[in-house]
Amino acid sequence: MTIKTLKDVQVAGKRVLVRVDYNVINSEGGPVASLSRLRASLPTIAYLVQHNAKVVLCSHLGRPGGKMVEGWSLLPVRNELQKLLGMSVAFAGDCVGPVAQTAVATLKPGQVLLLENVRFHPGDEKNSPDFARDLASLADLFVEDGFGVVHRSHASTVGVAQHLPSVAGLLLEKELAMLSHVLDNPRRPLVAIMGGAKISDKVAVVESLLNRVDALAIGGGMAATFFRAKGWATGASLVEADAIPFAGKAMQQAQARGVKLLLPTDVVVTLLPASAKDPSKLKGDVATQVVPADHVPAGCAIVDVGPATIEAFSAELRRAKTVFWNGPMGIFEVPAFSHGTRKLVDELTGLKDVTTIVGGGSTAEVVEALGVEGRFSHVSTGGGATLECLAGQELPGVAALKGKHPVGG
Ligand code: 3PG
Repeated sequence: MTIKTLKDVQVAGKRVLVRVDYNVINSEGGPVASLSRLRASLPTIAYLVQHNAKVVLCSHLGRPGGKMVEGWSLLPVRNELQKLLGMSVAFAGDCVGPVAQTAVATLKPGQVLLLENVRFHPGDEKNSPDFARDLASLADLFVEDGFGVVHRSHASTVGVAQHLPSVAGLLLEKELAMLSHVLDNPRRPLVAIMGGAKISDKVAVVESLLNRVDALAIGGGMAATFFRAKGWATGASLVEADAIPFAGKAMQQAQARGVKLLLPTDVVVTLLPASAKDPSKLKGDVATQVVPADHVPAGCAIVDVGPATIEAFSAELRRAKTVFWNGPMGIFEVPAFSHGTRKLVDELTGLKDVTTIVGGGSTAEVVEALGVEGRFSHVSTGGGATLECLAGQELPGVAALKGKHPVGG
């Protein structure tokens, strides 16, 4: 069943509750760390404003644990949103109850209101029917547009859709279309590049990709777990012992399915001082050397992929028609360990006639930090949601839109 979108319904004069994902502050009381998710929400908001809807935005921020925590207020996000939208955005200090009701009642068609953090109420994460009803009572229509949070079964992503006609917003529609391009109908060859520190979060997506891709390149810290599955020494690198059997199985599956699996052939290592357990905390000038991937010296941690590896990955990318990339090639936040990822980004952004899709989370942060967002076909706003979608798992916030509630024209 296909889901209806914003453009399938009349919105003029209606109170429209839009679930956005403005989870863009990384620490309690901290600054807005990224504007990408705000920017990505603008097309839906602008469409609703232009079509004279009363726009009521709701989001979570952080994990305040079901109680009001000032440092997790969405107020600083409202201020950034106003600048991006170029219009004033009202703010309600609560997302349900009299404060929210009064704020919605004063909204005129074409105006925008942001409600306070839904996770200040325990009912959101518990998907409490009462909380979902209270939130739904503020609106005539629900628009699901927070792609980054549709993998959560919460009242503001799922429960509310049981009470209101519910449709996908323009961001959700675009995200699903781009990811289904990778899953169902890619231009081939389809090449995936996976990196990042851990493989344990990515087991399901690696399994799924092995059924779909022509080639899979593995970089980042997670490559060390594959090296151990090959029986190679990995020095002081982080290895997820529990995931070694999975890495071994993945290599066998790739061979059985004719998928080219590329692992690093050379890596950048640093001698880890006894006092430093985690190379991502190293600061200043850090000495590094490039070594063959099967000869990581004792006491050294792998911190990046080497030049021969990037050349081999790049050669594969030049043959591709569709590329999905998730996860940095090394510890990007330490400048001395960021070269592999930077080279990969140069290569990806230089490709011609190739659909390039970037998975969200830390990968989107890298792309934003390098200021190259506009040079990919799509940079997903989802972290966990993107991975679950590519793992072929049903996303509860999307399934909720297929409910029985009639969507009026
Ligand atoms: C994210 O930033 O990945 C989403 O907003 C989901 O946040 P959560 O992991 O706290 O549910």
